[in-house]
Amino acid sequence: MAVIDHWHPVLLSATLRREPKAVRVDGHDIVVFRTSSGSVAALDEVCPHRRMKLSLGCVVGDTVQCKYHGWTFAADGRGESPGTPKLHACATSYDARDDYGAVWVRRRGADTEFPQFDRTGYHPMGVLAHRIKAPLELVVDNFTEIEHTPTTHGIFGYPLELMPLVKVTFEATNTSVRTVNVGPSKPLPWILRKLVGIKPDDQFIDDWTTWFSPVYSRFDHEWGNPETGTRAKVGWRLFIVWTPVGPSETIATTFSYARSTYPGPSGGLRLFKWLMQRLLDREIGLDVAILEGLASHETGIEGMKLSRFDRSLGLNRDRIETVYRGHGAKRLSLAG
Ligand code: FES
Ligand SMILES: [Fe+2]
Repeated sequence: MAVIDHWHPVLLSATLRREPKAVRVDGHDIVVFRTSSGSVAALDEVCPHRRMKLSLGCVVGDTVQCKYHGWTFAADGRGESPGTPKLHACATSYDARDDYGAVWVRRRGADTEFPQFDRTGYHPMGVLAHRIKAPLELVVDNFTEIEHTPTTHGIFGYPLELMPLVKVTFEATNTSVRTVNVGPSKPLPWILRKLVGIKPDDQFIDDWTTWFSPVYSRFDHEWGNPETGTRAKVGWRLFIVWTPVGPSETIATTFSYARSTYPGPSGGLRLFKWLMQRLLDREIGLDVAILEGLASHETGIEGMKLSRFDRSLGLNRDRIETVYRGHGAKRLSLAG
C-alpha cells in the first residue's frame, strides 16, 4: 500500500472546467481534465513523447491534447500521434471521480475503498480547500486536538482560562481514532448564539473520528447539554480530507454540512450558507496561519512534551504508518 493508492481530493469540482489542471499527490504530478462528456480523467503530467507538461495542453473531445506536438491522450492513457498515426503511445492513467463536490484521484485499479460520508440529516453547505505549507502529520495533529482552540480560533473551541474543565476522551480501533471533547463554550456574539440557538448553560461538544484510507476526519461541532442530550438548533458536520502534495505541503479539503431544526427547505440554512462558509473559511485559515509558524517540519513525536489533549497524536501516527503508508504491521496502541 502506498499513499497514491488511496483516494485523495485534488481540486474543487467547480474549478475544473474546460482547461486541464496540474495537481500533485505525494510527489506524483498529475494532469486532471474534464472530457467533453463531463466526466473527469487523470493522467501522468508528463507527455510520453518529449516530456511536455500535459496540463499546458487543451481538451479535445474526450482527450487531452499536448501543446507541443499535438498528440492526444484518452482517459485510459491511450495516445495518438497525428504525425505518425501507427505509433503506439500510452500515458500512465489514474482512477478519477467527481464526488461530494471535489475531483478525486488514486493509482489505477488500487484496492482501496472510496470514503463514505454519512450525511444523514445534514444539508450540504459547500466545499473549501486550504493549502498548508506543513507535512500531513503535523497538519492532522493540529486538526485533531482542541488545546489550540482558545488561542487560535474565534468560534469553535474553549476559553483558555476554562481549559482545565474540558473533558477529553479517546477511543481507537485498528482503523479509526475517536476524540470527544466537552467543556464550556467560548463567549460568542449574541447574534450567533441566537441564530444557532445556544442556551446560556450549553457546552461546546466537539466529537470527531479519524480514518486512514485516505486520512480524514468527520467532525461534529455542536453546542448542547451533554447531561440531557439536548442540542442547539444548528450543528456543523465537517469532513476534512488531507492530501499530501509533497513532504512539506498538504491540502485540507473541507466538505461542510449542517443540520438544523428550523423549518423550511435545507433547515432554513440556505440564506446563511454563504455566511457559514465564510466563518468556516476564516476558522480554517487561522489553523493554516498557526501551522505555517511551526519551527520544525520534523514529523516524529519523540522529544515533544505532550499534554492530556495530545493522545491522538500517537494513535494517529501509528495508523498513518500502517493503514495509510503501509509500513509493516506495527502493534497499534488502543485506547480504552
Ligand atoms: S511532447 Fe507531447 S506531443 Fe510531443
Ligand atoms: Fe483548529
